[in-house]
Amino acid sequence: RAAKRSRIDHLTKEDFKNGLFLAPMVRSGALPTRLFALKHGASLVWGPEIVDKAVLHSERVVDPVTGLVSYNGKQGRAIFTTHPIEKPYYIFQMGSADPDLAVQAARMVQQDVSGIDLNCGCPKPFSTHSGMGAALLTNPDLLCSILTALRAAMPPEITVTAKIRLLPSQEDTLKLVERIVNTGISALTIHCRTRNMRDRDAALVGRLREIVEFVEKMGKGIAVTENGDCTGAEDAIRVRELTGAHSVMIARAAESNPSCFSMNPLVDVEQTLTPAYLRLAKYLDNNWGLTKFCISQFKGRHVAFDKAQQKTYHQVLNAAKGFDDAALSEMVGEWTGEEEFKEIVKVIEA
Ligand code: FNR
Repeated sequence: RAAKRSRIDHLTKEDFKNGLFLAPMVRSGALPTRLFALKHGASLVWGPEIVDKAVLHSERVVDPVTGLVSYNGKQGRAIFTTHPIEKPYYIFQMGSADPDLAVQAARMVQQDVSGIDLNCGCPKPFSTHSGMGAALLTNPDLLCSILTALRAAMPPEITVTAKIRLLPSQEDTLKLVERIVNTGISALTIHCRTRNMRDRDAALVGRLREIVEFVEKMGKGIAVTENGDCTGAEDAIRVRELTGAHSVMIARAAESNPSCFSMNPLVDVEQTLTPAYLRLAKYLDNNWGLTKFCISQFKGRHVAFDKAQQKTYHQVLNAAKGFDDAALSEMVGEWTGEEEFKEIVKVIEA
């Protein structure tokens, strides 16, 4: 866990080993989700992918009361937010198809993050059309030139990492991995699906062990993180045994329940997490639409939260148009977001 880190001031290759990470997720990986993930045991958190050009067109604004850091786009709306409390654990994920733009964008955010991760896995056309995301997998020269440029431009205390998908052939995957590792990255995440596989297809975790052993033989001390189908802290033990991966990264299970990083994750998340999430989101000026979306994704084991309560909960949430909605406020209770935030700070610092 983060508290066991050898050096609290900046990440090293070792911090990517024995870890349980929150995956990058557009929308779902918002700041409050990252803070709850850290509170409940995630050792590092990846932010949602942000495209290099979006960063370059943004303005950094700091809230003098809460310390919230917002990178605001042209319309004044935040393209992403962060807070200094997460900085030691926060990996900024970038979408890029251009080494120069990637470096410029990284320079803009470097004061607020611990690492820069290159997205080499997004299969969506909006990424691949412009050569970003999974398109980089078939353009290894460009992929590696971005990583090399980032490594050369960033100071040693900023890690540079990459998140890739498997290629259809294992041989091609190993060749790609070799090139990527030789760029000087600090760690590599492998989403164990190929570009054409959908999330409902079972991840090909059986292919990972050979890749992990291959990277270990390269002798650079690079951690390989497994990503795909892990359901939580307990399941991560199984995944590591199965694959030999140094760490495990979780996306959808964390989207459903950001406390899944704990060996005792919250149950009845609608009751146990939503009110706290809303208070924190309001305090940290998290966009209402984004907040509502994240909460709407929460689901999990129900123990005491019965069917009638669930129905009322969804009615209240669906009808709510903002943080100040009366029925929602009743659900959220009297605790202010500031108290919620202080509690999270205390747990993360401990
Ligand atoms: C994702 N994923 C993703 N990957 C990435 O590298 N950058 C991103 O911004 C996103 N965004 C994103 C949003 C949402 C809502 C989901 C569900 C997924 C992919 C994600 O990080 C992960 O690789 C896959 O979801 C597989 O992991 P799980 O879900 O099987 O744990």
